[in-house]
Amino acid sequence: EMDPQERAFQERIDAGEKIEPKEWMPDGYRKNLIRQIGQHAHSEIVGQLPEGNWITRAPTLERKAILLAKVQDEAGHGLYLYCAAETLGVSRDELFEMLHEGKMKYSSIFNYPTLTWADMGAVGWLVDGAAIMNQVPLQRTSYGPYARAMIRICKEESFHQRQGFDIMMKMANGTAAQKRMAQDALDRFWYPALMMFGPSDKDSVHSAQSMAWKIKMNTNDELRQKFVDQTVPQAEYLGLTVPDNDLKKNEETGHYDFTQPDWAEFFDVLKGNGPCNADRMAARKEAWDGGAWVREAMAAHAAKKKAAKLA
Ligand code: 3HC
Repeated sequence: EMDPQERAFQERIDAGEKIEPKEWMPDGYRKNLIRQIGQHAHSEIVGQLPEGNWITRAPTLERKAILLAKVQDEAGHGLYLYCAAETLGVSRDELFEMLHEGKMKYSSIFNYPTLTWADMGAVGWLVDGAAIMNQVPLQRTSYGPYARAMIRICKEESFHQRQGFDIMMKMANGTAAQKRMAQDALDRFWYPALMMFGPSDKDSVHSAQSMAWKIKMNTNDELRQKFVDQTVPQAEYLGLTVPDNDLKKNEETGHYDFTQPDWAEFFDVLKGNGPCNADRMAARKEAWDGGAWVREAMAAHAAKKKAAKLA
């Protein structure tokens, strides 16, 4: 049974009001948001690693400049989201400590390797495509700072997806070897991209409560279906084949029937057994330790400036 304060809060949520940092909120709402926003931010930061690997290997200066801009955008998305998480009373240091100690997650997609340049196309097209599918509804989430961060992030995401699709177009219409690379990238990224939407609704731990609090606006399966319906025609346009022999348009529902990802693989990757989990964590810890002197210097400088102002 809800106590009066929680009932009043739920009425605000149901009325579509935005909850702001200084306002009362149930502890569960705060904890759920720290979890989701923190992991969203970690996904942006860890997500820079697979693409970062190709900045020095881009085939042309133009592609290098585009990829550099995209990876820098992701860093910025991470910072907006860490700022949103900090408004809930958690520090960035705590969030990073929980990530490094395996107490917080990041999107499993980033535990897969980027083996060829075509992967830069598949990541932009499929991973950013899935991220957009998930982030657009989150612009209407009930927590003010999170909704506003999403509005800014969504503005930049469409460029991420377009540049990826452009790479896929170039390669799918290129030499036979390039087309094979594009098909290989689609084969390797299709199911991990479907996993980005989370487990099936029946296995979703947070969906019911998150949707009641408008921390989540759609169910995992709903967005996954939307992503498949939008992406299959794009694959056909590229002349590529989605690696799912049972994929077919259901004339009754108007949706594509498709094969679910391998959920055993999904939970195994979440447990840390994906191809790149160890590398990603090592890279993040090294970056965090390597950047300590910058954080300390900035803090010392800020303290000196503050002292000078007070003097
Ligand atoms: N990778 C890692 N963990 C995942 C996951 C995935 N693909 N999908 C689900 N999980 C985790 C959940 O975090 C939860 O674990 P937790 O309790 O330790 O947090 C558990 O699996 C059960 O899943 P639920 O469905 O119960 O969890 P959620 O209700 O949180 O749904 C979600 C998962 C849809 C990812 C939701 O958290 C969400 O919408 N998050 C915000 C968007 C986001 O984080 N997207 C990640 C990609 S953004 C990105 O990649 C950047 C882009 O620029 C490329």
